[in-house]
Amino acid sequence: MEHLRMLLNKYRDKRRKLIVTDAVFSMDGDQAPLRELAALKREYGAMLMVDEAHSGGIYGGRGEGLCHELGLQGDVDIHMGTLSKSFGVYGAYIVGRRTLIRWLVNKARPLIYSTALPPSIVTGISMSLDLVQKEHWRRERLHTATRLFRSSLRDAGFSIGDGDSPIVPLIVGDNDTALRFSGALEEEGILAVAIRPPTVPDGTARLRFSLSAVHMDKELTDAAAHIHNIGLRLGVLSP
Ligand SMILES: Cc1ncc(COP(=O)(O)O)c(C=O)c1O
Repeated sequence: MEHLRMLLNKYRDKRRKLIVTDAVFSMDGDQAPLRELAALKREYGAMLMVDEAHSGGIYGGRGEGLCHELGLQGDVDIHMGTLSKSFGVYGAYIVGRRTLIRWLVNKARPLIYSTALPPSIVTGISMSLDLVQKEHWRRERLHTATRLFRSSLRDAGFSIGDGDSPIVPLIVGDNDTALRFSGALEEEGILAVAIRPPTVPDGTARLRFSLSAVHMDKELTDAAAHIHNIGLRLGVLSP
């Protein structure tokens, strides 16, 4: 945030300044400091663009995303997200002022020069949006499942970062151990991809778990028990 303030100060006189951030970061599952970003945006007359790829569908009363959950929607000039993650379909969206959308429709080359989404996908998106808006219980279930899974891993002694999102990173450190950990979990029917540098900083290779509203409590506690045992076996946890 200090770096951002420094840059905004440096370019104070520029007419257009755009702050761009994810709402939830993909590799740590933590949230961007959106309130502070919105305050800086106001202070410096900048624009704010938020990518809700990992938070759309999951936060907000109707799944609008983290900006709505925090009541910051009025501060976001460019609100985007993908429909390929929690929405379970394909495609993406950008929400903004009419002028911005018109400008994108006329100028955005990747949009102009690629084929439009097929009707089957658009129908899927429409169905998905309907479910996401109406079935708030799925979000509640997901957040309950996430709390259970996160606390099971924490109680077992793992380092899983500070986030509260359904993206749960388990920091292993060493690349080889992360791969062996992931392989051992796969044998137990648990899919957790080993994420290694350069996707994450050196020495912070990790397993990345993604939870869903259909995961049952027992599945999660059983998974945590397997993760615990394998962690001990591979020396990620000390006995
Ligand atoms: C922050 C962020 N934005 C956008 C995307 C792109 O999503 P898609 O694969 O649906 O194009 C991703 C994909 O992982 C992402 O992490």
